[in-house]
Amino acid sequence: MLIWFNYHLHIFLIYISIRISSEDISSGWQSFIHFSSSGFEFSPIDMEALFLQQTTADSVEICSQMCHTTVLCRTFDFDIVSRRCRIFQGDLDTTGSIISSSLSQSVVGSIELDSTQFDSFGKSCLFCQGSRYLKCINSTCQCQSNTYFDGSICRSQKLLGSQCINETDCRTDLNYTCLPRLQCGPLSLQNGSTVAGYGNGTAGSDNNALNKPWGLAMGIDNSLYVCEYGNSRVMRFHEGSTLGIRVAGSASAGTGSNQLYEPSVLYVDASSNIYVADDINYRVMFWANGSLSGTKVVGTGSYGSSLNAVADVFGITVDSHGNIYVADTMNHRVTKWIPGATVGIVVAGQNGISGSQSNQLSYPGGLFLDEIHSYLYIADAGNNRIQRITLGGSTNATTVAGGNGQGSSNMQLNNPRSVYVSKTTGAIYIADEGNYRVTKWAVGATKGVTVVGVDGQAGSSPMLFGDPTYVILNLNETLLYVSDYVNHRVQSFKLI
Ligand SMILES: *[C@@H]1O[C@H](CO)[C@@H](O)[C@H](O)[C@H]1NC(C)=O
Ligand SMILES: *[C@@H]1O[C@H](CO)[C@@H](O)[C@H](O)[C@H]1NC(C)=O
Ligand SMILES: *[C@@H]1O[C@H](CO)[C@@H](O)[C@H](O)[C@H]1NC(C)=O
Ligand SMILES: *[C@@H]1O[C@H](CO)[C@@H](O)[C@H](O)[C@H]1NC(C)=O
Ligand SMILES: *[C@@H]1O[C@H](CO)[C@@H](O)[C@H](O)[C@H]1NC(C)=O
Ligand SMILES: *[C@@H]1O[C@H](CO)[C@@H](O)[C@H](O)[C@H]1NC(C)=O
Ligand SMILES: *[C@@H]1O[C@H](CO)[C@@H](O)[C@H](O)[C@H]1NC(C)=O
Ligand SMILES: *[C@@H]1O[C@H](CO)[C@@H](O)[C@H](O)[C@H]1NC(C)=O
Repeated sequence: MLIWFNYHLHIFLIYISIRISSEDISSGWQSFIHFSSSGFEFSPIDMEALFLQQTTADSVEICSQMCHTTVLCRTFDFDIVSRRCRIFQGDLDTTGSIISSSLSQSVVGSIELDSTQFDSFGKSCLFCQGSRYLKCINSTCQCQSNTYFDGSICRSQKLLGSQCINETDCRTDLNYTCLPRLQCGPLSLQNGSTVAGYGNGTAGSDNNALNKPWGLAMGIDNSLYVCEYGNSRVMRFHEGSTLGIRVAGSASAGTGSNQLYEPSVLYVDASSNIYVADDINYRVMFWANGSLSGTKVVGTGSYGSSLNAVADVFGITVDSHGNIYVADTMNHRVTKWIPGATVGIVVAGQNGISGSQSNQLSYPGGLFLDEIHSYLYIADAGNNRIQRITLGGSTNATTVAGGNGQGSSNMQLNNPRSVYVSKTTGAIYIADEGNYRVTKWAVGATKGVTVVGVDGQAGSSPMLFGDPTYVILNLNETLLYVSDYVNHRVQSFKLI
């Protein structure tokens, strides 16, 4: 039997009735403890928030008793050889995990909760006198600190990044609230920091200024590339620097091969080559890394709707074979340009026709390519939806976000300008321009959450956007960058 136990977690249940003093104890202090087998220890997700005490104890019973007598303790581990006894607050299932330990005799104990222990919740304090699980607040029985009532028991409040429904779910003692993105965290996460541009609302043309930033891209070294509509240039900002380096365009707007004229969006490949949609020159230019001029790879240089031309381009992406996809906004189509091609192939939308059927687009903007699944995501701005097509498949698209009319509810979008898809979770981040917010739609979700910005509220404070036009994540997806066009700044926000 013992051998069997050694290889299975959660295997034996000991009923411990601990005598806190020599007197009879209240039934509220009795509980079940679950033990792991030997060779395991507890690994809390946040040591600082969950650690209560470390001591030496002579036996597992004594360590268990320490946990029992410490009102916030819900989990502990004990090693008989070193006599290490560590006690933690937090439920086993949500605040940490059992991991194998180098201490072969170490066991993890956790208090098993039962709704009968919380029967007195909300009742007069007479019913919870001496209870381990409930305490008297304002004359009624309430949960202990750092726990919340879920309708049957008091559960541990959640830590940074955990999903929540409302603020009671989150560790209020750490100043966490349930953020609009439905994760526990400090409200300060809603404030962005300016990583490019003056940040005071003023446009400029110095190397630390921006003028009407629109498209963004991330270099392989986490440097940030910004397309500036107002300065007709592309700036590159090395990580942590707000001093940009001009990497495409010249000091003035123009039609020369070394110039750009109101560039909108860009794509940067793994060799740091830049593909830039040169909006008012009706072309896409290729600027090789370090080059002082570009080569035209898409368009004629004049506004047009034939397949060799583009009207305004507000979306671009490039696959690993060098095929360029452009969202030709005024032509309501997405075209593919094979390397060296002088005409594009329509892969989504109908040439020159704005419509809302699955094979139509209306003023398409930002593109995002998931080459692994051959998915091309399209910000179908005029239809207030994000469409996804499978490259090589039908030009009929699937709506993956929005599509419920123009509006600000969590099921709706309002003029979504760009889309970025997480490489780790598949979640879709959308610059929901008309709602002044960035929303996130989980895979398959029928509604989104506001990650940053305040629904329907424009502004220039760190928490607001004047005009969020573009959104990207950094390479390890710890930061969200948002282009704030009218505030002439790019904001960064921490993801949790
Ligand atoms: C107790 O009641 C008072 C008055 O209603 C209220 O202000 C206070 O927040 C309550 N305390 C707690 C911990 O709920
Ligand atoms: C939080 O949500 C729970 C469950 O939906 C609900 O019972 C509780 O009243 C809510 N608390 C607040 C402060 O909204
Ligand atoms: C929470 O906020 C209060 C008031 O701003 C502050 O005094 C306290 O130190 C904060 N606690 C933590 C853990 O940050
Ligand atoms: C967010 O920024 C505003 C404006 O600078 C500031 O007043 C506020 O305290 C910040 N909020 C948090 C939670 O840090
Ligand atoms: C914004 O900052 C820039 C650079 O520091 C400065 O030149 C400009 O005058 C400031 N604008 C305002 C409105 O303060
Ligand atoms: C781009 O060019 C610079 C020199 O101009 C070089 O240092 C850098 O390695 C190049 N980057 C890539 C990704 O090739
Ligand atoms: C594509 O969509 C159009 C318009 O909704 C429809 O008529 C057509 O049958 C669809 N084609 C496919 C292959 O689903
Ligand atoms: C993510 O990448 C940044 C560099 O851009 C680095 O500073 C940070 O530590 C990384 N975070 C994680 C969790 O890997």
